[in-house]
Formats: sequence, C-alpha cells, structure tokens
Amino acid sequence: MAEIIRTENLQYAYPAEEGEEPLYALRGVDTAIEKGSFVVVLGHNGSGKSTFAKTLNAVLLPAGGRVYVEGMDTLDENLLLAVRRTVGMVFQNPDNQIVANVVEEDVAFAPENLGIPPEEIRRRVDDALAAVGMSEFVTHAPHLLSGGQKQRIAIAGVIAMEPECIVLDEATAMLDPVGRAEVLSTVHRLNREKGITVILITHHMNEAEEADRVLVMDDGKVVMDGPPQAVFTRVEELRSMGLTVPDTVDLMDRLRHHGVDVPLDTLSVEECADAIAAALQQN
Ligand SMILES: Nc1ncnc2c1ncn2[C@@H]1O[C@H](COP(=O)(O)OP(=O)(O)OP(=O)(O)O)[C@@H](O)[C@H]1O
Ligand SMILES: [Mg+2]
Repeated sequence: MAEIIRTENLQYAYPAEEGEEPLYALRGVDTAIEKGSFVVVLGHNGSGKSTFAKTLNAVLLPAGGRVYVEGMDTLDENLLLAVRRTVGMVFQNPDNQIVANVVEEDVAFAPENLGIPPEEIRRRVDDALAAVGMSEFVTHAPHLLSGGQKQRIAIAGVIAMEPECIVLDEATAMLDPVGRAEVLSTVHRLNREKGITVILITHHMNEAEEADRVLVMDDGKVVMDGPPQAVFTRVEELRSMGLTVPDTVDLMDRLRHHGVDVPLDTLSVEECADAIAAALQQN
C-alpha cells in the first residue's frame, strides 16, 4: 500500500509568552495516510487538528519528529515548494480565500504565480472548474456566489495546482446544509474520480460516515484510528472526549439502553431501518 504522508513522533509547540512553558499542540503523532484514501479528522476544540493540518504542507515545521510527504522530509528547505504543491489546503472562511474579481482569474492565481505557461493555465482552470461543477460560473464575480459555491471555487484554486492531496480544515463550518452537501459531494467525487487523497477536518460527525478512515485527536495525539464503523461504536469514549456521534449511532445507542437488541455499527439510515425492523420481528 503506497502512502502519501507519514508522520513520525510529530511534535509542535507554539512560542510561549515570556516566563511560560511552551504549549505543545502536537505531542507525538505517528500516522501514515494511504494514497487515494479519504480520511476524516475529528477532535474537540484545541485538540490539535489545525496544527496537524498545517504541518502536512509545511506551513508549520515539526519541533520534534518528522513529516514525510511522498517521502519528502518537510524540514528539507529545498523540498518546500514541492511539498506545498503536493498538499493543497482549503480553510474555513471562503471569503478569505477569494483573491480576484472574476472566478477564472481567482482559480488561475496560484498557477500563474508558479510561472506556468498561459495555455496550460487555461486548461487547468477549465479542468478545475469542471471538477468542482462550476464551469458555468467561469466569468462570474465570486463575491456574488453562495458560500458553498465560493468554497468550490477555493477548492478549484487548489485543484489547479494539481496536488496529490487536499486538506480541508473545517471548510464546511461556515456553510448552510446545502453548501455543506455541495462541498462534501465535490471532495468525494475528486477522491473517487481523480484519486486525490482527501484529509477532511470537521466537527460534523455525519461527514465522517463515508470516510475510509477516521482519526480522532485529543490533547495533541491521535487517540482513535480506524474505519468509521469501528470508531463510532466507541460511543462512551467519544462522549468522554466531548464529541458526539452520528445521529444514526446515537439512535441505536438509545434503543440499546431501552433494551432493544440492535447493533451500533449501522451508519446509514437504511442499515438502521433494517436493524430496527429485524429487532421488531424478533418480538
Ligand atoms: N497561533 C497560536 N499561538 C499559540 N497557541 C496556539 C496557536 N494556535 C493554536 N494554539 C493552541 O494549540 C492547541 C491546538 O490548537 P489547534 O488550533 O491545532 O486545535 P484544533 O483542534 O484545530 O481546534 P478547533 O477545533 O478549535 O479548530 C490549542 O491549545 C490552541 O490554543
Ligand atoms: Mg482548528
């Protein structure tokens, strides 16, 4: 299994105020992300998710341990540009990520800065807009679009750099349910059809249901790691870390407390319905 990212005992500390101990936001993260996988990162506020994300494209450099991106050590200054081209980042606020007054110029911005020839940029912009389902908006003004559409333009801007991996740090947090669904289905399609590795940081448990793998962070460490079915059955542990579980798991957990014999690893509504129907037939 080919891996795109590996972290070894990764540590990061933010600079301290005078006379205070440095605050360790990452305290030894060991993980390997498989190429082409869709990984969701969960964890309560301050658990280190954003710090972790920023070490993956060398916005932050390890204070201890290592991050390897396609085998490239992010501490090697000569590889910095290559690392940043391999891992693209999408952030929470769509308005902060729009830099131009026309959609196509916005998407072209980063590749232009890389000195890519104009005809190649044209192709990349068209491909990127098609990939996020926004081709018809090519000459529109970004500030007139909805939040979900703006995030899809921001994702197109990252895609235009032709990265192997995209990290989305709560990129759906400021969106309404429609915008959230648009962005989520866009990244799932990019993952499926283009084989782009996706690392999605979110507070919405339901967004983790279709992931290949879920990482749960707590106090600067990865404390759970596995397929969503395995992670979400650990209901009490998740709650003790201040996290919720998907609505479907919550429902099954409550039924079990009422003595109904249903499994916990049913994430889709269909599976839940089947399990409840089976339990009813037993009586
Ligand atoms: N620029 C900074 N300077 C000092 N401390 C910081 C800075 N950014 C984050 N921290 C601290 O580092 C720890 C981890 O923060 P981080 O932002 O990585 O968490 P997070 O899991 O992304 O949280 P959230 O869910 O709120 O986005 C927290 O204790 C936070 O207060
Ligand atoms: Mg964060």
